[in-house]
Amino acid sequence: MPVNEINKYITIALDGAAGSGKSTTAHAICEKFKYIHVDTGLHYRAISLYLLNLNISPENTSAYLQSSPVFLSSELDKFSVYLYVNGIHYSKSELRNERMNREVSYYARLPEVRSLLLNYQRDLPVFGKNLGFSGIIMDGRDIGSVVLPDADLKIYLHADLQVRQHRRLSDGEHDSISSRDQIDSTRKVAPLTCPDGALSIDTGKLPIQKVVQLISNEITSLL
Ligand code: DC
Repeated sequence: MPVNEINKYITIALDGAAGSGKSTTAHAICEKFKYIHVDTGLHYRAISLYLLNLNISPENTSAYLQSSPVFLSSELDKFSVYLYVNGIHYSKSELRNERMNREVSYYARLPEVRSLLLNYQRDLPVFGKNLGFSGIIMDGRDIGSVVLPDADLKIYLHADLQVRQHRRLSDGEHDSISSRDQIDSTRKVAPLTCPDGALSIDTGKLPIQKVVQLISNEITSLL
C-alpha cells in the first residue's frame, strides 16, 4: 500500500443531541484508532461560563465581544483537546452541572459566539495532525453541517428522549434535555441537524460495542 494511504489523516464529524452517546462513542474510537477528540459542547460551556462570571448576559454578549478580545487556545490531555478562554481552563465539574446545562444554549445560539468558536474549531484538525495523531473526531451539533462540511466521515447519533434522559440521570446529571433540544434544534444559526450524507445510528437500539463496530467498519473502508 502506498505510504500516503497508510498515513491518511481521517476527519470525523460526530453530531447528535444531548445524551445521544457522542462522548462515549468518541472515546472508544479514539482509543482504537489513535485519534484526537474534541468535545465542542465543552467549548460552548466554557465561553458561557466565562461570560457568566463577568456578569455578561446573552443579551449583552454581542456588544461585549465587539469591544473585548477573547483569545482561545488549546491544551492536550491524553487524546482530548481542552479549550482555554483568555488563558482560563475550566474543570469538567465547573462546565457540566445543572446551572451550565440550563444556561449554555442561550449563549450557544448567538451568532457572535458561534463565529468565534468556528474559526478556532476549524484549525483543530491541523492541530491534531501536527501532534502526530492519525485522525480527529469532533463532536457537537453542527460539525458535519458547518464546522467540517468536508469531513471524511459524518455520523449522526440519536435516541429517544426517555433513553437520553435516563442516561443523564444515571451519570448523576440534572439536565433539562428537552428544552435544550428545542433551543439547539430551532435556533437560526447552525441548528442541530442530521447532516447530508451522515450515517445515522439509533444508540437506544444498539449496545455501545455495536455502535463502535459500525463506525469502525466505516473508518476501515476509508483507509
Ligand atoms: O454536548 P453538550 O451537551 O455539552 O453541549 C452543550 C451545548 O452546547 C448544547 O446544548 C448546544 C451547544 N452546542 C452547540 O450549539 N454546537 C455544538 N457544536 C456543540 C454544542
